[in-house]
Amino acid sequence: MKYIYANWKMYLDFDESNIVVNQLIQKNFNTEKVEVVLFPPSIAIADSIKATVGGPILIGAQDVAWADKGAYTGAISARMYKDLGCSHAIVGHSERRYIFGETNEDVRKKIEACLDIGLVPVLCIGETADDKENNKTEYRLKKQLLKALDGLDINKQEIIIAYEPVWAIGSGEPCDPIQVDETCMWIQNQIKQYTCNIIPILYGGSVNEKNVVTYLASKNIQGVLVGSVSTKFDLLFQMILSAEKI
Ligand code: PGA
Repeated sequence: MKYIYANWKMYLDFDESNIVVNQLIQKNFNTEKVEVVLFPPSIAIADSIKATVGGPILIGAQDVAWADKGAYTGAISARMYKDLGCSHAIVGHSERRYIFGETNEDVRKKIEACLDIGLVPVLCIGETADDKENNKTEYRLKKQLLKALDGLDINKQEIIIAYEPVWAIGSGEPCDPIQVDETCMWIQNQIKQYTCNIIPILYGGSVNEKNVVTYLASKNIQGVLVGSVSTKFDLLFQMILSAEKI
């Protein structure tokens, strides 16, 4: 199984999201080979779910609040997304960590909120350019994994990891596929401390319709989390077809 996850961030508004979703539901792909999850902006999630219900496309949230309910202005809980019909939620995306100041502790609480309610968390981890320059990539990833997963029972629950080097996101400078493959293998080994399951590990950071094949064809990379390029229907569908052929 290969995973094509589309993180639309704040790129598409309500109407634009609906247009891409409606184009995509006209198309067929082999669900035994590819899992497609769209992460529209929160205002478009309800309509995206209505349009895709019963079909092969899944819908996820870009972020969740760690609390379940209450006085949290502007926040939306994992339960609320689950009740709407979401299956997944991105947790700890680097834009949440570095622009909105989310800590490893916040990320941990959000993972727990997702697992408690039955949303599959897509845990994003990745080193910054600074980490990379200072040979701290493994240190950063180890720390993010430890804080997110230590002591959690994830043997019976699904969880996805997205390896997203911060310097590669939105920069047009994707990480070399061989390097990504090695890092994903390293992550898979690290994860053995937390679960006996094999966890799908995706790569994200300047993936496009051309370079996607090199990632998907790599042994240790199970899929991709794509940002800007995934907002364009034809390019997104091209990536889905590429995944199907692998
Ligand atoms: P990008 O974003 O594909 O636009 O680089 C990836 C991500 O943030 O998940």
